[in-house]
Amino acid sequence: MPDTPKHLLLVEDEAPLRTAVAERLADHGYEVVQADSGEAALEALAEFAFDIVVTDLRLPGIDGTSVIEAAVERYPEIIGIVMTGYGTVRDAVEVIKRGAADFVTKPFQFDELRLALDGAIEQRRLKSENAWLREQLQQRYSFEGIVGRSRVMRDLFQTLETVARTASTILVSGETGTGKEVVARAIHHASPRRGQRFVALNCSAIPENLLEAEIFGHVRGAFTGAIGTRQGRLEQAHRGTLFLDEVGTMSMPLQVKLLRVLQEREFERVGDNQTIKVDVRVIAATNADLGRMVADGSFREDLYYRLNVIPVTLPPLRDRREDIPLLVQHFLQKFCNEVGRPVMTVSQAAMRSLMTNAWPGNVRQLENAMERAVALSGSRTQIEIGDLPPDIQQASDAGDWIPGLALPDDGLDFDAFISRVEHEVIRRALERTGGNKAAAASVLNLKRTTLVEKLKRLEGLA
Ligand SMILES: Nc1ncnc2c1ncn2[C@@H]1O[C@H](COP(=O)(O)OP(=O)(O)OP(=O)(O)O)[C@@H](O)[C@H]1O
Ligand SMILES: [Mg+2]
Repeated sequence: MPDTPKHLLLVEDEAPLRTAVAERLADHGYEVVQADSGEAALEALAEFAFDIVVTDLRLPGIDGTSVIEAAVERYPEIIGIVMTGYGTVRDAVEVIKRGAADFVTKPFQFDELRLALDGAIEQRRLKSENAWLREQLQQRYSFEGIVGRSRVMRDLFQTLETVARTASTILVSGETGTGKEVVARAIHHASPRRGQRFVALNCSAIPENLLEAEIFGHVRGAFTGAIGTRQGRLEQAHRGTLFLDEVGTMSMPLQVKLLRVLQEREFERVGDNQTIKVDVRVIAATNADLGRMVADGSFREDLYYRLNVIPVTLPPLRDRREDIPLLVQHFLQKFCNEVGRPVMTVSQAAMRSLMTNAWPGNVRQLENAMERAVALSGSRTQIEIGDLPPDIQQASDAGDWIPGLALPDDGLDFDAFISRVEHEVIRRALERTGGNKAAAASVLNLKRTTLVEKLKRLEGLA
């Protein structure tokens, strides 16, 4: 279906009404073909793939219901609107069940018909947009439940696929809620270790004095309260994967012990001197800048290098906004499926503010917002802007984002828009390089001459 559906078949047996409506529709940009009977309508439909059919319900021969049925059967995407006389609303409901999008009752103001058309077109657009997103989700843009279509995420999927096959230690860094734990689990599930355990330990959630025993285990009487002998997480993860979350919070003495495990794959339980060997893959995560912690002496450099064999960095969501529509779709599927309702759509305004929000809590915050929106939407089939948390209803950092990139309702002038984008990108590159054109060109991967040319042209336009 074209971007703006405009080929419209108008079926009405009363000539004056038909001509009047046809004229108004034409004024609104529709290409109207008129048919004075159901038979004529079927002929027209056989010859041309209309985007829209607007038909009277009561027609002398073949009636409106049959016209709609035939149209939908031939063109499943067609938008059908019926015009019904007073007292036949029940028939209108019936015809909606057979595939019509909406109805207006006669006599009607032209605006009522126009609203019905606008609404149906918007619904159809969202439906195909959502179908498209769903397809994307199933096809390429996910890896073991991690969703993303931005360049960084696609590169990440490749990296993960490769490193999953190895037993190398991995350090995953990223702000809170960027998906560090999902990445760790995905690696485990894509690795030859998938049949063994994935053991997660959040180093910051356990008091310092208990953390050592938690990791290494202890023997009876090792410390006050150590009643029996207990396996630590390392042993539990034997042949599997140990996920050490928030590794940056580990004390210096523990860091030394962890370093030994990474180097020798051996350790002793607390209070014991018998050495235990393990085969464990370690994945560590941090939302702190471990490099900086090394520089200021709060994290051991040798351990840092041991952990950082393969660094995986998850950028904040605001730096990969292309992922947002896909993530939204992913979470809508999840939460709608959970309560057994059909997957909802998202209004343009709501999507626009989702796209432009700053998301300090990253994907987790987006996930929570979608869960809340589904809950608040009642029986509606579409998420509206009012269903979003108040703080994200307005775009909070629109300045960072190209305004209008979520296509405005009333469309835009493509060339002017692209020029504005070019202008803005070049301006920022020049700003970063202190006005040095050669440097700015290299920031943008452009030849210097190309940049100068573009600048001239854009300045000519301004
Ligand atoms: N790319 C993604 N695709 C699908 N779901 C994601 C993605 N990234 C994160 N999530 C979801 O977002 C939530 C937060 O992710 P996760 O717990 O992995 O974040 P984190 O980086 O470990 O955060 P923290 O530092 O706060 O522990 C989870 O529910 C996770 O399933
Ligand atoms: Mg986490």
